[in-house]
Amino acid sequence: MSILKVARLGHPIIRKTASPVASEEIQSYEFQKLIDAMVETMKEYDGVGLAAPQIYVSKQIAVIEVNKNARYPNAPHIPLTVLINPRIVSRASRSEDGWEGCLSIPDLRGIVPRCQSLLCEALDRSGNSVRIEAKDFFARVIQHECDHLEGKVYLDRMPNLLSLTHLAEFAKYWE
Ligand code: NI
Repeated sequence: MSILKVARLGHPIIRKTASPVASEEIQSYEFQKLIDAMVETMKEYDGVGLAAPQIYVSKQIAVIEVNKNARYPNAPHIPLTVLINPRIVSRASRSEDGWEGCLSIPDLRGIVPRCQSLLCEALDRSGNSVRIEAKDFFARVIQHECDHLEGKVYLDRMPNLLSLTHLAEFAKYWE
């Protein structure tokens, strides 16, 4: 097991655009260990997604999974998904508001408008091209993680900060 430290907002790596991963690198032992460590770190901190810049690696890698999550008890199940060099190639015009949090912005939640569905192209952890059609919460998490790879966080996507809520107050008033 290796649980990695999570970079918080304010560390410059969170605002940096991540570099694409070379396809030859994907099969390497070190790269596969990095993916494993990202998955373990996401689970340890009850995240539903984690992008490599959040663990101080400025590369285009994100992991996503929702499986009985304590921080998101009402979120639908999402199988473990590894996205390398992801591109959102089409987005529905319809957008939906929903609550988001981020392991790099601890203890806060805010309402963020996101496209309701999308098509994402990426490489999986074996280096195969995958096309993922996602909607609702899954589409939201993909957009959140792809933003991290461009140095953006969910606060940047909020039309204003009026819904920004401390997690303890969220549980009391909004859940
Ligand atoms: Ni995040």
